[in-house]
Amino acid sequence: MVPPTAAPSAPVAASEGRAGAPAFKDPVKDTILTPRFYTTDFDAMAAMDLRPNEVELEAICEEFRKDYNRHHFVRNSEFDGAADKLDPDTRRVFVEFLEQSCTSEFSGFLLYKELSRRIKTKNPLLAECFAHMARDEARHAGFLNKAMGDFGLQLDLGFLTASKSYTFFKPKFIFYATYLSEKIGYWRYIAIYRHLEKNPDSKIFPIFNFFENWCQDENRHGDFFDALMKAQPDTVRGLQARLWCRFFLLAVFATMYVRDVARKEFYEALGLDARTYDKYVIAKTNETSARVFPVVLNVEHPRFYERLERIVGNNQALSAADASSAIAPIKVLRKLPFWAANGLEMAKLFLMAPIRSEAFQPAVR
Ligand SMILES: [Fe+2]
Ligand SMILES: [Fe+2]
Repeated sequence: MVPPTAAPSAPVAASEGRAGAPAFKDPVKDTILTPRFYTTDFDAMAAMDLRPNEVELEAICEEFRKDYNRHHFVRNSEFDGAADKLDPDTRRVFVEFLEQSCTSEFSGFLLYKELSRRIKTKNPLLAECFAHMARDEARHAGFLNKAMGDFGLQLDLGFLTASKSYTFFKPKFIFYATYLSEKIGYWRYIAIYRHLEKNPDSKIFPIFNFFENWCQDENRHGDFFDALMKAQPDTVRGLQARLWCRFFLLAVFATMYVRDVARKEFYEALGLDARTYDKYVIAKTNETSARVFPVVLNVEHPRFYERLERIVGNNQALSAADASSAIAPIKVLRKLPFWAANGLEMAKLFLMAPIRSEAFQPAVR
């Protein structure tokens, strides 16, 4: 994969920790809820015919070339001493947030960088778009890592590159997953930014001032995948596409909801209720997705959040079983019914009738 020297860790590691050199932070234990690293079929990507939507893709690439945020990610004096103002509990949840965000930005960087490198000669337009997006993600990850430096910690991104396991996805699955993560990222950042704009007292750290321009990068990245799927219309047409879009929407929404409710203290520190915040982000991302996905989820159905809440409850029971002093086989036995219950809830959620996008957003389509 990408050699560690290409990672944004180099400039980051040189940053000034408050007390001399910052300590490297051990990455959090991998669970289904932590950000993943992806790889794909590079030959299939290289061979992709863009002609059905080349004009739009060229226009998006032109936007990327303008590099609107070239001078945006510059730290100012507001960061001086800001980390010291956080109480220990807020500090803990905030560092966790920084670490998760940095890892997922960095995961995007690695995938886009590798894609641009591997398809450079065979598919130059696509390669250029990926290179611009890798540039943005490296900036985002680097900026987050510098904020971790304010707390005397750094993520060792070079180590992460070499040691993480990579999940293989066929290109169309990469499109669904990254499209959704870019668009959900946009809605997450802008929702926090707008909330803090109205409630400046809850702005616990100056990094949130950067979210408005930052989320525009994510929005453009999402638009790129929207255009790319339209260039490969089979990815968003037919029965298979409808089933896969439902699956990815559900996987992304459920993962975020369960994770955010489990770390609701972070949102409380910002004066937000994790559930209300997530419901807003899910509704907006679902609505946006109807511009390109053939179907979206019926997130307004009363059963939707009822079932997600059951998964939240099961996960609490799973964590309690993990934390108990029982021996491993007993722990597994205790956890089995909750895993099964989660599987059943997810299946029921998946089978809930979706909404056809043309019915949901006729004006856009
Ligand atoms: Fe990003
Ligand atoms: Fe992005």
